[in-house]
Amino acid sequence: MKTRHLLIALLPVAILITASTQNQTSSSTFFGSADSNSQSMIQQGRHTFRFDTFGDEAFWGGKLELHRAINNMTPSQALTLGLKVDSDALPPEVIQAIKNGTVNLNDPAVTRLLIKLKAVLGVVGFFNPDGTLRSVGLTCAVCHSTVDNSIAPSIGHRIDGLANHDLNVGAIAASAPNLQPVVDLLRLANPSITAQQVRAVLNSWGPGKFDAELFLDGKAFNPQQVTNGVVMATNVPGATLIPNARGLAGHNLHTWTGGWGTVTYWNAFVAVDEMHGKGTFFDERFDNAAQFPIAAKAKLGHVATDPDSDRVTSKLGALQFYQLALPALKPRSGIDFDPDAAERGDALFSGKANCNRCHREPLWTEPGWNQHTPGEMKIDGFEARRAPASIDAQGKALHGYRTMNLAGVFVRERGLFMFPHDKGRFYHDGRFKTLLDVVNSYDARFGLGLSDQEKHDLVEYLKSL
Ligand code: HEC
Ligand code: HEC
Repeated sequence: MKTRHLLIALLPVAILITASTQNQTSSSTFFGSADSNSQSMIQQGRHTFRFDTFGDEAFWGGKLELHRAINNMTPSQALTLGLKVDSDALPPEVIQAIKNGTVNLNDPAVTRLLIKLKAVLGVVGFFNPDGTLRSVGLTCAVCHSTVDNSIAPSIGHRIDGLANHDLNVGAIAASAPNLQPVVDLLRLANPSITAQQVRAVLNSWGPGKFDAELFLDGKAFNPQQVTNGVVMATNVPGATLIPNARGLAGHNLHTWTGGWGTVTYWNAFVAVDEMHGKGTFFDERFDNAAQFPIAAKAKLGHVATDPDSDRVTSKLGALQFYQLALPALKPRSGIDFDPDAAERGDALFSGKANCNRCHREPLWTEPGWNQHTPGEMKIDGFEARRAPASIDAQGKALHGYRTMNLAGVFVRERGLFMFPHDKGRFYHDGRFKTLLDVVNSYDARFGLGLSDQEKHDLVEYLKSL
């Protein structure tokens, strides 16, 4: 009896406890948890970034017939074009054969096998039963990832977000058997342009560069590249360097000019209008026919795909999340930079050289509106004027350049993960070869009066970020 009484007495407590644990589980399912959500966002975003063509094989394979060129492409040709091979996707015997030098780099069947194994970064193949390609699509990873060369040059572990500055996007596109769809698009701005001229433009870009704006405005060349009032070069290809898409969280505007918007704006635009995936993209700014003759006529700012066939929109959230989660590479003290010189450079950066006025530690861009006019930067405004304008204090159109991220900039100075021919190259069009060239130019443009020692220290500091 006694026990039964006790049990009865405890019953309400037990019910209360169960009810409250039940509430906890149901409330965490109901309200969701940031931790588990962030994990699944990262997994989904990574998968999209690496492997998702968004259906763009309908363009690259279906229209340009790029797969026909790849069917005859030897591995050594593919590597010369800058394509990279993920060693983690290869079976151990293939890795061993690569190390032994027994893989035939002159056999196109090997290229196709690597694509089939999903080992060629950013290239997705669709195969005939006989093992030849019937179509091919591209993913974000083709331009925005590289490998650590741990097995052989251009073969190793994937590094998402680091730009592939060996990749010759223009030459790859120019190798497509049927360029007519691209010619037709460019004719909306230049009615007399020929396929031969389009190939010449694509081949003018060189490794590590792509011209996303060309297919909106048809402007292939910057007539005058000007720094500090001096014409450095004429008729420079309008392609920009592929940026390292790492360390971008906290930045308001993205891309070189900042004029387009944020990461997720750019991802929607690139997936739909540049990669030609099946999706939806809106931007009425593209209707400005004076600035964007092609985009306005082709209505590139009004692309709608019905939700059931849309292969981009549902992926934008996780893709953005993944992009922002990619950290900048961390330089190693004493290996990647000289710590004593960097400490002196730190004082200069926010002191005499006044770099910190724009590159705000530790974001390395301004919290808030992070754009500067070409006049302020004392460089030409060709690329800035190709992006949509924002509004200045007087209500006038403002075309600018975004204060570029400096975190992990040492990677490009050292040419780490790149072939030596492609070492360095800074600013949107790669006009400066080394960080010292950048610092020398700031010294002249902003009259900083830096000594050689101070310039050296500033460079070491930049390499430490
Ligand atoms: C053909 C090469 C290429 C492909 C494919 C490509 N990008 Fe880019 N990406 C570029 C270039 C070039 C820029 C710089 C554009 C500019 O500022 O004019 C850029 C800029 C960016 C930026 C801005 C980085 C910064 O520092 O502000 C992000 C983020 C980005 N791309 C993500 C993506 C994603 C996600 C995809 C896939 C949907 C993708 N890109 C596909 C070449 C490419
Ligand atoms: C008025 C604002 C401003 C100041 C001051 C400034 N920068 Fe910059 N910085 C920018 C902008 C904008 C860019 C991008 C330019 C472009 O793409 O053409 C840039 C680009 C760079 C780059 C190239 C980044 C890349 O990815 O290619 C480096 C390096 C750099 N700045 C270092 C410095 C140093 C060092 C100082 C001080 C001596 C400095 N900056 C002062 C605005 C500024």
